[in-house]
Amino acid sequence: MKKNIAVIRGDGIGPEIVGQALDVLNKVAELYGHEFSYTDVDMGGVAIDKYGDPLPREMLDKCIASDSVLLGAVGGEKWNGVPGHLRPEKGLLRLRAGMGVYSNNRPAKIWPQLSEASPLKPEIVAKGIDFIIVRELIGGIYFGEHKTEALESGEKQAVDVLVYSESEIERIGRIGFETAMKRNKKLCSVEKSNVLDSSRLWKSVMHRLAEEYPEVELSDMLVDNCAMQIVKNPAQFDVIVTENMFGDILSDEASMITGSIGMIPSSSLGNTSCGLYEPIHGSAPDIAGKDLANPIGTILSAAMMLRYSFDMVAEADAIENAVSKVLDQGYRTADIMPPEAVSFKKVGCKEMGRLIVDNIV
Ligand code: IPM
Ligand code: MG
Repeated sequence: MKKNIAVIRGDGIGPEIVGQALDVLNKVAELYGHEFSYTDVDMGGVAIDKYGDPLPREMLDKCIASDSVLLGAVGGEKWNGVPGHLRPEKGLLRLRAGMGVYSNNRPAKIWPQLSEASPLKPEIVAKGIDFIIVRELIGGIYFGEHKTEALESGEKQAVDVLVYSESEIERIGRIGFETAMKRNKKLCSVEKSNVLDSSRLWKSVMHRLAEEYPEVELSDMLVDNCAMQIVKNPAQFDVIVTENMFGDILSDEASMITGSIGMIPSSSLGNTSCGLYEPIHGSAPDIAGKDLANPIGTILSAAMMLRYSFDMVAEADAIENAVSKVLDQGYRTADIMPPEAVSFKKVGCKEMGRLIVDNIV
């Protein structure tokens, strides 16, 4: 199969981790007889420096025209002072909205080899951690009006607006139910309906949809309680569906209990097969250029691209198996290296990537 992949290396550790993921994709192409071509796209801080815009229109167009997009990470200290609408993160938000990828899928699954890296007690980890957060990605408070204004008193006031329409809730709700149907048929809808109108609408739409999915067991949970339950008893979750900001926060928490945020991939899809694939961690400027980053989250994102956008199931399995083998062999990047563990071998970003490539069969 021929596929054109838009590649956004981004800022900080982005270029290092994406480089490793491309080596993995090239190995898969060679073994399975595919032809992957890559279109470089500038986004984030690097685009601000070059064009004064975190996502120029032609860069977005390249992504929309591609078969799918692979993204490293954007942002960094250097651009913290720029106005909100020009921040590197704004490029990412415009990319998500421009591609129409409303459904962000973030798995929280513990690799057995990394169970000791989880900060949770062993008896909690032993019950299993394997759930998915389905996060609404192009609505809610991220996309409402943002402004800072001066009051008559001279004091400043800031406003961020949170809006959800029924149809926006319904389309992500359906993804939640469909995802649950493919798994253990348990869906937990997370909101703050004791305070927010948008959450009360969310809850009512989820219950209306539940009638169409009688096999799925739907439960409701307030977001504050959910944050607690994720560390108290993560085994209770199969699929969580939630709005944009709650999903942002809960997915960081969920990744941490699996050992390291550096391991977690994500997919973002809309109504077409052209998806956006990115690790859930950030650009980690503190370790950028030092060959210390963990490339596995990005490599697994590339595997998700093969699985969900290109229907290349065997190829995706081959990548995931290679990651598992390398972990079995005791190789660890710094973020997943247990302290004082003599039986493990600490490796850098490049070496981790090379080991995974070598283990793809
Ligand atoms: C994420 C990130 C982004 C988000 C930032 C970089 C804008 O935290 O993908 O979770 O908040 O969505
Ligand atoms: Mg986040």
